[in-house]
Amino acid sequence: MKKLCAFLFLAVAAVPGANLSMASETDNSARAVLITGANRGLGLEFARQYKAAGWQVIGTARKPDAATELQELGVKVVQLDVTDAESVASMATELDGQPIDLLINNAGVLPMQDTLPEADIGTVAWTLDVNTLGPMRVSQALLPNLSAGEGKMIVSISSGLGSLERNSGGRFYGYRESKAALNMFTRSLASELRNDGFIVIVMDPGWVQTDMGGPSAPLTPEQSIRGVRAVIDGLAAEDTRRKIRVLSRSTMVRAWPGSESG
Ligand SMILES: NC(=O)c1ccc[n+]([C@@H]2O[C@H](COP(=O)([O-])OP(=O)(O)OC[C@H]3O[C@@H](n4cnc5c(N)ncnc54)[C@H](OP(=O)(O)O)[C@@H]3O)[C@@H](O)[C@H]2O)c1
Repeated sequence: MKKLCAFLFLAVAAVPGANLSMASETDNSARAVLITGANRGLGLEFARQYKAAGWQVIGTARKPDAATELQELGVKVVQLDVTDAESVASMATELDGQPIDLLINNAGVLPMQDTLPEADIGTVAWTLDVNTLGPMRVSQALLPNLSAGEGKMIVSISSGLGSLERNSGGRFYGYRESKAALNMFTRSLASELRNDGFIVIVMDPGWVQTDMGGPSAPLTPEQSIRGVRAVIDGLAAEDTRRKIRVLSRSTMVRAWPGSESG
């Protein structure tokens, strides 16, 4: 059945463990996923879990030679700086003709700028460049690969801090704006690709123990990405038409109480 294109703003929506066993029992060897910023944090965990589930994994890193943990997974490592148009173009050239089923726009930055007087506008512009324009550049460059894939999914990692509705505390100048704009880009792309059978979504991974999330976060990367993958698996496996109807009633689904990233 042809999939419908979907825009869904989801927090981690899965019950821990859901769909994981199903994923590991399936032959995924024909499926390819590309993850940006895969050398550490959530990107590395995405790479680890998709590799373990049998997928062909392409992980990007700004410095592939220094990405030892990613290299040790035995996945394909490609150089990519999402702010550098030449780097994006050479990645696309290197991957020319390779079908990709799932793109995960994960790379991101969070500079701490809590008041307007301390906010550096150049830093805000850089944050938008990485967090908003980065996913646009990469999605644009890899559209032929994604169109050639069966999965036709683009998942961008957003944040609760990008929610207009839930911003009662302010702070995080640059980051909040970048994720709100990423959400809007995603919504537009979802509309554009609707008739081509794509699922285009943003997801909030929860507040997670990474360099960005810090040690006080309630979720480990393993827990967060297990939940995110279960949502992705569910969307890919189920009748998308029905799934959209269910999820659209509650656009912010949260299954990790207290773990929201803002
Ligand atoms: N952790 C949380 O609690 C949390 C909550 C909500 C949303 N998120 C989102 O989840 C995503 C991953 O976050 P994380 O916690 O894993 O962060 P992290 O540990 O700081 O890792 C960030 C990753 O992004 C890469 N990156 C940064 N700038 C880049 C650029 N210009 N081009 C390519 N790659 C670049 C980094 O590469 P280098 O090693 O080269 O710097 C690194 O691989 C981000 O989009 C973040 O906004 C995280």
